[in-house]
Amino acid sequence: MTARRAGPLKGVLRAPGDKSISHRALILGALARGVTEVEGLLEGDDVLRTAAAMTAFGAGVERLGEGRWRIEGKGGFAEPSDVIDCGNAGTGVRLIMGAAAGFPIAATFTGDASLRGRPMNRVLRPLGEMGASWICRDGGRLPLTLRGGALRRIAYRLPEPSAQVKSAVLLAGLNAEGGAEVIEPEPTRDHTERMLRAFGAQVEVSQDGPGRHIVLPGGQSLTGARVRVPGDPSSAAFPLVAALIVPGSEVTVEGMLLNPLRIGLLETLGDMGADLSVTNVRDEGGETVADVTARHSKLTGVEVPPERAPSMIDEYPILGVAAAFAEGPTVMRGIGEMRVKESDRIALMAAGLAACGVGVEEGPDSLTVVGAPFAGNGGANHGVAGGAKVTTHGDHRIAMSHLVLGLAAERPVAVDEPGMIATSFPGFVALMRTLGGEIEA
Ligand code: S3P
Repeated sequence: MTARRAGPLKGVLRAPGDKSISHRALILGALARGVTEVEGLLEGDDVLRTAAAMTAFGAGVERLGEGRWRIEGKGGFAEPSDVIDCGNAGTGVRLIMGAAAGFPIAATFTGDASLRGRPMNRVLRPLGEMGASWICRDGGRLPLTLRGGALRRIAYRLPEPSAQVKSAVLLAGLNAEGGAEVIEPEPTRDHTERMLRAFGAQVEVSQDGPGRHIVLPGGQSLTGARVRVPGDPSSAAFPLVAALIVPGSEVTVEGMLLNPLRIGLLETLGDMGADLSVTNVRDEGGETVADVTARHSKLTGVEVPPERAPSMIDEYPILGVAAAFAEGPTVMRGIGEMRVKESDRIALMAAGLAACGVGVEEGPDSLTVVGAPFAGNGGANHGVAGGAKVTTHGDHRIAMSHLVLGLAAERPVAVDEPGMIATSFPGFVALMRTLGGEIEA
């Protein structure tokens, strides 16, 4: 797949449904008793795997129409008769393991080559403390078989800022004697806490210094609910940054989730001088959403506050692209978690940007991108050479980031394995084309 520089990007679009909320809607729907109806579900491969898994655990899962799904929960998980394959989805497998640990069943989990390489110890550690057991490959890698049931209460302090680990503990806590308690020194996305409440559970959240203390009392059950999935800010980031770097562009993303724990990228782009406007702010099903417009902007490099990392952890790859078109260095620190995502995203962004002629410096948990001088609206030369074929290791966000870069670089940029984009943003290429982007196979 190759992207090349063409005219300005113009248009209004809806981002696909939020991936985090989509996984949770299916899982909570299956754990609950009764019917859950979901609107705007992301129909990307990651989430479809979670839907299939919920069927395997005994829920009735039915697609009613585009993004419209009905889940008939049985109030618990039954033992699946085959292996659960979560594909590329770290969120899927970690949250489902947490949920499954609450029941006296055995379940075997696997995934694609990327997921089989990712650390599961971070969820196995607390689940083990609660009483679950497992057998797995060296280093807590998939495939693994988990056996749950008869869980004890836990008070778990997250060693790494991870919403997936927090969520796994809370979902296990639903069926643990006495519930569960999570202390997070740095706040991470809170969709599980919000959605548990929407499904009738009591969840107490208090501020604990800069972090949070979450208490899920024991003996609770969930009741099916209606879920309206907002647009994913992590997907919206790609067309928005594309508009910022392609001269003459103006793009609006409607219905984008504005959860304060997800908008670190918007704050950072604002600090860089991006022309962004947020309008029509409204509440949709317990989350704030809005329409966000981005116009081509003169960007300046910044130092990103490290404490902002959890609220934009999936957005650093596309921030790296914005930084390539900003004047001066952009310094990203405290981003070690990027190395254990779908790929080692620090290494792949450093390599991809360098191959496109951008100055980069990689540290163990940092990345510095030195941008080219601004050439002005309609300027022909931003000084980002492009002209590379980028290796993505099957990582959807590495692929989309470099395709966006190709829309504004001097020479075309190609990525391998573009099919993986469908894990999170199935219509990405078609959508960028309707905005005027030139991307083709
Ligand atoms: C997610 C949490 C983050 C994020 C992932 C989605 C979630 O992972 O990178 O894409 O839905 O809880 P970590 O919990 O590993 O930080």
